[in-house]
Amino acid sequence: MNNIKYKKNDLLIEGVSVRNLAKKFPTPFYCYSSKTIIEKFKKFKNSLKIDALICYAVKANPNIAILKILSKQGAGTEVVSEGELIRSLKAKINPKKIVFSGVGKSLNAIKLAVKKNILQINVESEEELELIEEITKKLKKRMQIGIRVNPDIDAKTHKKISTGRKEDKFGIDIKIAEKIFNNYRFNKYLDVIGLSVHIGSQITSLNPFKRAFLKISRMVKKININQKIIKILDLGGGIGINYNNDKVINFNDYAKIISKISKDLDCKLILEPGRMLVAESGILLTKVLYIKKNKKNNFAIIDAGMNDLLRPALYDAYHEIESVKNNKGQKKKYTIVGPICETADTFIKKKILNELNQGELLFFKNVGAYGSSMTSSYNSRPVIMELIIYKNKFSIIRKVDTVSNQISREKIPSLISKIK
Ligand code: LLP
Repeated sequence: MNNIKYKKNDLLIEGVSVRNLAKKFPTPFYCYSSKTIIEKFKKFKNSLKIDALICYAVKANPNIAILKILSKQGAGTEVVSEGELIRSLKAKINPKKIVFSGVGKSLNAIKLAVKKNILQINVESEEELELIEEITKKLKKRMQIGIRVNPDIDAKTHKKISTGRKEDKFGIDIKIAEKIFNNYRFNKYLDVIGLSVHIGSQITSLNPFKRAFLKISRMVKKININQKIIKILDLGGGIGINYNNDKVINFNDYAKIISKISKDLDCKLILEPGRMLVAESGILLTKVLYIKKNKKNNFAIIDAGMNDLLRPALYDAYHEIESVKNNKGQKKKYTIVGPICETADTFIKKKILNELNQGELLFFKNVGAYGSSMTSSYNSRPVIMELIIYKNKFSIIRKVDTVSNQISREKIPSLISKIK
């Protein structure tokens, strides 16, 4: 997988010159290699020696073009909002390959999911289950349900993206989940036959997965002892990628543990990877606006801000940055910051790079997941453009927003105009 590489002072993405793209379009913008996404999906799929439905976690990158690429490979989607469901339908994902997760599903979102006959809703509370029952009754529909359990396992990842500890808001306690499976056994509207678990994201060791799956396995055996109640296992996502010399999980090792659990329990499998399918496909191209020194720091102020790439500010995440030029030169230490009026708008501190100049193109690596999907228009900065490359050709997959578009949704009402 080497679709993003240097050639003669330029960066090529599937053969397309990033330098030329920067002549055509103002920076900053995201650019993705579709081949990388396809290769990642195939590699993961092929490592699984068993049949599993791969439902791509839309939150990682919800662009409908990306959903389309993945659906062409056979993927379904995992959605957590009405918006993500609408996007999946727009990209023509087969509803029977859509799983709906999330702790706070809205009434409208559930109604849409039921009307569109999606595969499964993973519920996270008893109240939610009661609401879904009411809706299915009114709409005269049946719905397949998964119960998301909280296995109380620490995924050993950043605390803000850990979801499986007992203090986290996600999932239902195993004891309560066992009761729910029994109580809903003969429900007229709901097929409560799924068990789901997702312990966190950017997980770089197999151990937390093993521990969580072991708990799940014990639970299924207990519930299915006399009658097969649980037939579907949704094992969530969470596989991490290499951002900064991180050791990563080998797909084959992961595949082995999930094969074992699904064979032992004789259940159908759903997997919900997000990050690892798309992260490495994306770069964020940016330009040096100014170089500024103070007593402690040598700042490179770039035109991308924390509104465009939030992960460093929110999780202290590291995204490698490099110059497109990649030539030899005097090494200097730079603290790379954006234009936003917050100190949190710092991407990397004291990074050694060849001497930078005003106007120079830089790019962040591994930003295909949770990059554009977490953008905002903070500081009234328009949400930026997204481009995709496929076999030597590029195309815009999201236009840059405009300030006038932002303002067009606002108004100064007469009650405010009247204020003296
Ligand atoms: N399934 C469920 C129920 C989830 O909550 C998530 C992610 C996934 C699947 C996909 O997980 P993945 O394979 O991408 O790790 N914004 C954070 C990541 C938040 C992940 C939230 N849930 C970041 O930038 O690191």
